[in-house]
Amino acid sequence: MNNEIALRRTFAIVSHPDAGKTTLTEKFLLYGGAVNLAGSVTGRKHQRATTSDWMELEKQRGISISSTVLQFQYRGFHINLLDTPGHKDFSEDTYRVLTAVDAAVMVIDAGKGIESQTLKLFEVCRRRGVPIFTFMNKMDRPARDPLELLDELERVLGIGAYPVNWPLGAGKEFKGVWDRHSRLAHLYERTPGGKYRAPVATAGLSDPVIRDRLSEEIYRTVSDEVEMLDGAGADFSPAAVLAGNVTPVYFGSAMNNFGVQLLLDGFLNHSAPPSPRKSRAQNIITPEHPAFSGFVFKIQANMDPLHRDRVAFVRVVSGRFERDMRVLHVRTGKTIRLAGATRLFGRERETVDVAYPGDVVGIVGKDTFAIGDTLTEDPDIVYDEIPRFAPECFATIENPTPSAFKRFQKGLDQLMQEGVIQRFELPDTVRKVTLLGAVGPLQFEIVKYRLESEYGAASRIESAPWTITRWIGPDAEIDSLLLPSGARAVRDDLGANVLLFDSEWSLRYFEEKHHANPACRLFNDRPANVLSV
Ligand code: G4P
Repeated sequence: MNNEIALRRTFAIVSHPDAGKTTLTEKFLLYGGAVNLAGSVTGRKHQRATTSDWMELEKQRGISISSTVLQFQYRGFHINLLDTPGHKDFSEDTYRVLTAVDAAVMVIDAGKGIESQTLKLFEVCRRRGVPIFTFMNKMDRPARDPLELLDELERVLGIGAYPVNWPLGAGKEFKGVWDRHSRLAHLYERTPGGKYRAPVATAGLSDPVIRDRLSEEIYRTVSDEVEMLDGAGADFSPAAVLAGNVTPVYFGSAMNNFGVQLLLDGFLNHSAPPSPRKSRAQNIITPEHPAFSGFVFKIQANMDPLHRDRVAFVRVVSGRFERDMRVLHVRTGKTIRLAGATRLFGRERETVDVAYPGDVVGIVGKDTFAIGDTLTEDPDIVYDEIPRFAPECFATIENPTPSAFKRFQKGLDQLMQEGVIQRFELPDTVRKVTLLGAVGPLQFEIVKYRLESEYGAASRIESAPWTITRWIGPDAEIDSLLLPSGARAVRDDLGANVLLFDSEWSLRYFEEKHHANPACRLFNDRPANVLSV
C-alpha cells in the first residue's frame, strides 16, 4: 500500500487555450508508452467533426467540454493526468478538477507570456498551495526574452521562478536548453511532428559539439545569462516547490517533443505523492489511513449517448478502493455499494477492481451523488474540498411552455445538483425570476441544450449585466441598503444574501460607502455562517 501511494502522481495541466496543453498531454502519453492512445488525444480536434463525441454541443462548437482522466506509467510511476477543459470558455468544472490534484503543470506560450486564463487557474492552484511546474512552450517560434518571462511570473503571479533549464536561442535559432543541474547542454533536432523523442546531444556549454552549433551571439548571450543566474539567483529549494512558493521553469517545444522529458523527469523528482486532506473535524486524513475515503469532484452526464448515464468522478484520498465495496455516502447517511466503477480514457471504459490514493475512479449510475460528496468507510471522515466559485456571468432563465413546468423544474434541479450552474433568485419582482450564475457563459448554452435534449424542456435564457458576486452577512439590512446603480441584491439557493455588481467601480463604491458597517462586510464565497436561513 505505501509503495502504491509513493509511486502515484496526480496532476493537471493549466493553460490558456492554444498554449499547447493538448500537444504536451500527447507527448507525456508518448513517454508513458501509450502511443496509440496519444494519437487519440491529438485526433480529438479532427474526430469531433466526424464521430459523435460526448455531446452534440461539443461538435457544434468544436470544443471539449468534458474532461477526462488520463493514466500512464513512466519510470515506474503511476501517473494520473486530470484533463482540464481546454476551450475558450471554461466553467466551474475546470476549477473543480484542481481540487482533486496534488500538483499542476502550467503551460505558457513563450511568445505571449501569461494570459488571462492561465492567471485564473493559477490563482486557484495557489490558494490550495499546490506545487506548480512551468513549461515555457513554443520556443521554436519567436519567443519573448526568457529573463522577461521569468520576471513576469514573479511580478504577475507573485511566485518565485527558478529556471531549471535555460533556452539556447529561440525561434529558428532555438538549439536546445542548458540544464542547470547536470550542467549539460541538450541540443535538439527537429523530428517530424515530434513523433518520437528528439535525438539529443548532451555536453558542456563550451564543448565543441555544442559550441559549433550555436552562433557566436547566442553562445555569448547564453553564457552571460547562465553565469548571471548562477551568481545572482537563489538556490533550488525542493521544499519551496512543494509549498507552492517557487515554480521550477522548463523551456521547450511540445510540438517538437523537445524539453518534454526534462519537464516530466523534473516533475516526478520534485512533485509530491498524494497529499493528505483535511476532514471537517479538522483532523488530517493521510493517504495511509486504513479506511477508504474520497470525494466527488465532478459529475459528467451523458458521456456516452448510447447509455445516457451519469459518471461521478471520485478522487481517492485514503485507503484502498475495491470494486463492489460498501461505503457510507455521508450526505444522505446511506450505505452504498460501489458497483460500476470505471476508468475512462476518452470514450473507452474499463472496469476498475482496485484503486489507491491519488487515483480517480468514475462511478457510473449513482444518481444521488452530488459534487463535493464524501464516500468513506470511516464515518468520522467528511471532506469539504469543493468550494463554490463566485460566478462572473449571469442570465435569467424562464420556462416558455407552462405545460412543461415539471420537466423544466426537474431538469434544472438535476443540473444544479450536478454543479453545472448556480441558481439565484431575484426577490421583490412581481413574478419569481430565476437567475443563473456561472464562471463562463458557455454554461448557459449547456443548460439550455441539456434541458431540451435530456428533459424535453424548452427554456428562454437572457444574459444579465452583472460580473461580480459577493456574499454579504445575514445582519445586513438588505432591503434598506443603499446600492450603487447597476448593483442588485439577490438570494442564493440556500437563501443567503448576495450582492451582484456590474463593475469593479460599483463594487468599490459600495465598499467605500459601507466600510464602517461590519454587517456589510463582503465575502468572495458563501462562508458557513452567513446563511440567513
Ligand atoms: P491547447 O490544448 O492548449 O489549446 O493547445 P494545443 O496543444 O491544441 O496547441 C495549439 C496550437 O499550437 C496547435 O496548432 C499546436 O500544434 C501548436 N503548438 C503546440 N506546441 C507547439 C510548439 O512547441 N511549437 C509550435 N510552433 N506550435 C505548437 P494548431 O495549428 O492550432 O493545430 P494543429 O493543426 O497543429 O493541431
